[in-house]
Amino acid sequence: SGVGVVVVAAGSGTRLGADVPKAFVEIDGVTLLETALDGVLASGVVDEIVVVAPAGWEARAQECVDLAASCPCAHRTAVVTGGAERTDSVAAGLAALSGDLDVILVHDAARCLAPPELFGRVVAAVRGGAAGAVPGLAVVDTIKIVDARGVVTGTPARADLRAVQTPQGFSAPVLRAAHAAGIQATDDAALVEALGHEVVVVEGHPLAAKITTPEDLHRARALSAARAD
Ligand code: C5P
Repeated sequence: SGVGVVVVAAGSGTRLGADVPKAFVEIDGVTLLETALDGVLASGVVDEIVVVAPAGWEARAQECVDLAASCPCAHRTAVVTGGAERTDSVAAGLAALSGDLDVILVHDAARCLAPPELFGRVVAAVRGGAAGAVPGLAVVDTIKIVDARGVVTGTPARADLRAVQTPQGFSAPVLRAAHAAGIQATDDAALVEALGHEVVVVEGHPLAAKITTPEDLHRARALSAARAD
């Protein structure tokens, strides 16, 4: 039993345009990965942590784990190498987690400012019986579905939409089965939904926004400076 988390940090960060992979970009001298791990540890709900790093960056990722975990002995930790797509990286992380966990979280290192309480909220929803639980926020823009030519083919009712974040949490056997199906998706909940399991949305948080563009990084730096005041 217990809660394991896969922290995916193997993206290249092409859209950020930095000279290192995104997880190793720094805010005030601290890498996004270490900041993300600080959040995971501060949540107090995680027993085991696997970090998925870009090929060649495993040792640097291990340094981030060591910096974040003041007492590494309190948690089982591992660093593994990621894959070409996010789904491949999560699968690599899952393979390195213990087999006896009952809840597995998947968290994007790029959402490094996700508040610690978000982890507890997601775990509570899974322990409460949901196959999967994801943090989400109401969307402010109207979202269009378009075809390959950019022609609008539909407008889902905005009130029905949620922008979802990580950490996403799942019953461990369900998440493992979803990944065994071998399909790709932009989040893990989609794989679990595809198997017909119920995924619930819990209240997300603006600070769990993903850092993707240089503008996102500027915003995260400003937020982090405001927090330090
Ligand atoms: O690419 P995207 O912004 O959706 O990435 C979300 C998260 O997934 C990031 O934390 C990134 O490091 C991770 N990722 C990964 N392996 C990939 C692609 C993305 O671990 N091949």
